Amino acid sequence: DSSKRVSIAIDGPAGAGKSTIAKMISKKLKIVYLDTGAMYRAVALKAIRQNIDTRDEEKLSKLVKDINIEVRHIDEEQRIYLDGEDVTNLIRTPEVSIGASNVAVVPEVRLKMVEIQREIASKCSVVMDGRDIGTYVLPNATLKIFLTASIEERAKRRYNEQLLKGITDVSLEDVKNDILYRDKNDSSRAFAPLAKAEDAVELDTTNMSIEEVVNKILGLIEDQC
Ligand code: DC
Repeated sequence: DSSKRVSIAIDGPAGAGKSTIAKMISKKLKIVYLDTGAMYRAVALKAIRQNIDTRDEEKLSKLVKDINIEVRHIDEEQRIYLDGEDVTNLIRTPEVSIGASNVAVVPEVRLKMVEIQREIASKCSVVMDGRDIGTYVLPNATLKIFLTASIEERAKRRYNEQLLKGITDVSLEDVKNDILYRDKNDSSRAFAPLAKAEDAVELDTTNMSIEEVVNKILGLIEDQC
């Protein structure tokens, strides 16, 4: 019944906590979580593997013509497939992060990803996180959230996340520079840049715990849905 379908858009800069929060919301509401950043990351991985400069718009436009990006949900976990290969664990490197931000500038790349994202949202209730979900992908989302936090806090969170994963060769300064580069690149592109939708609720999570953010959003869903 499509009249009961909900869509929740969570946008914001890198490291604001979007994926952590979106995952928890999806579990609470028993709806699908779609991490749209993973899709841009998969495109970047393909380009890197083919030695294509991730800023080469012409080559990237060609590359996405016959790319196959698929999202599957296995045991409540999102897995991302690039041309049939599960690349979920290969797309979290600093190189792929920067590459994803670069390929995401190219309109042909975005149009292809957005098509897949809208297709999923047309079939199921979703919570989607990204940069342009509220402004472009799902302009009629049930609820739009714009998550932010100070650059210091975002860098610290990403850095600690990496330590937990056993990644120790990337410094806090490296993480901060990666985030600053992507924030600027993602906000300044011409087509569907990172921006707060007019009707989004902005939450500065710098001094909020994960539980506080989740409860705040669940409260907003009750108010609006
Ligand atoms: O959310 P993330 O860090 O995995 O995203 C990686 C890059 O992908 C991000 O720097 C910009 C791009 N991206 C985008 O342009 N639009 C989205 N909806 C999601 C990600």
